[in-house]
Amino acid sequence: MKTLLQINASLFAKGGQSTRLADQFVAAWRANNPGATVIVRDLAIDAVPHLTAERFGAFLARPEERDATQQAVAKYSDTLIDELQRADVIVFGLPMYNFGVPSTLKAYFDHVARAGITFRYTATGPVGLLIGKKAYVFATRGGLYAGTPLDTQTAFVRDFLKFLGIADVEFVYAEGLAVSGERKDAALREAQSAIARLLPPALPIAA
Ligand SMILES: Cc1cc2nc3c(=O)[nH]c(=O)nc-3n(C[C@H](O)[C@H](O)[C@H](O)COP(=O)(O)O)c2cc1C
Repeated sequence: MKTLLQINASLFAKGGQSTRLADQFVAAWRANNPGATVIVRDLAIDAVPHLTAERFGAFLARPEERDATQQAVAKYSDTLIDELQRADVIVFGLPMYNFGVPSTLKAYFDHVARAGITFRYTATGPVGLLIGKKAYVFATRGGLYAGTPLDTQTAFVRDFLKFLGIADVEFVYAEGLAVSGERKDAALREAQSAIARLLPPALPIAA
C-alpha cells in the first residue's frame, strides 16, 4: 500500500494558498489510491526548531554516546526522516517568502539532511539515500518569477531534494497572486488544471 507525505510550509497553515493546492492534489491522489496512507506535517502547527550547534552535535554524536538531550534531538530528527523514508510520494505546499523558502521549511530540511541516513559521502561526491520517490511541489508567489533568474527558490528545492536522492520532482506554480484579483483567480485555476492533468480522475464520469 502506498504512502504519501504532505509537507505544508505556509505560515497560514490550512488557509495558505499553497496548502489549498497541495490539499487538492492530495484529495485527488487519495481517490486514485484508495486505502493508501497519508501523513500530513504542517510546519506552521508543528514548527521544527532552528538547527543549533547543540542540535547538530546530537546528530554527529555516536548513538551510544548521546546524552538524554541529544537522544531526544536525534529521535525527533529520526521521526521526520522515517516519514520521508516511508513515503512513495512527497507533496510540498511551498509559498515564496522574501525570495526564498519559508524559514520553517529550511529548518525542516536542516533536520532531515543526515550523513549516513539520508545521504552519504563517497569518493565521487555525495549520494542521496531516499530513492524511488516522486515529489510534487505546489509553489505560490505574489509576483512572477518562474523561469527567470530571480527564481532561486526552485533551484534550491530541486537541488536539495536531489541531494537526498529525490530526483523526480514536479513543480506546479501559482504566480502573480498579489498582482490583481483577476490574475490570482486565473493563476489558481491554471494550477488546478495542472493538478487535474497530473492526476486524472480515478473513475470515468458517467455520460
Ligand atoms: C512574509 C511574506 C513574504 C512574502 N514574500 C514574497 C516574495 O518575496 N515574493 C513574492 O512573489 N511573494 C511574496 N509573498 C507573497 C506570497 O508568496 C503569496 O501570498 C503566497 O500566496 C503565499 O503562499 P501561502 O498563501 O501558501 O502562504 C510574501 C508573503 C508573505 C506573507
